[in-house]
Amino acid sequence: MSDPASFYEQVGGHATFQRLVDAFYRGVALDPVLRPMYPEEDLGPAADRLRMFLEQYWGGPTAYGEQRGHPRLRMRHIPFHVDPDARDRWLRCMRAAVDDAGLSPIHEATLWDYLERAAHAMVNTFEPNRAGAPGAPTPDGRPIL
Ligand code: HEM
Repeated sequence: MSDPASFYEQVGGHATFQRLVDAFYRGVALDPVLRPMYPEEDLGPAADRLRMFLEQYWGGPTAYGEQRGHPRLRMRHIPFHVDPDARDRWLRCMRAAVDDAGLSPIHEATLWDYLERAAHAMVNTFEPNRAGAPGAPTPDGRPIL
């Protein structure tokens, strides 16, 4: 008997993950808190990294690992101010993207459960986001005042 199809295959493979990530980044592009967090002007490369990661996680191609190595996602997010507000905004963009993907209820629930738990695990600060405020740290960590 052959192995059951991976989740990646069951939901429609590459086209589905591309659609999901495209819809997600359309939301990010419009979000005033999330958008400035992304260092590159073009969101395309970040979209590719998230898509490759999700495809690999769900049993698809392993391009993420080949190009980026071990995910270590919590560590990779440390430079960014991921507070509960950023998490909720990230999840709102992702919720709209998951709704747009047209998955079956069981696939949708499985994917959403994972994304919600992963987003909660990514929170790395409960400090308010003071970027630009007086006394906020400069990019090299020194206080302005
Ligand atoms: C909770 C809110 C989150 C925020 C605000 C956030 C923000 C960011 C930012 C600003 C980047 C850098 C963009 C880039 O250069 O790729 C990034 C990278 C990334 N994020 Fe998130 N993220 C969040 C949650 C998540 C979650 C839940 C996942 C996975 C399910 C995830 C997966 C990734 C991946 C795969 C990368 C690229 C890592 C690499 O450099 O290889 N993120 N994220």
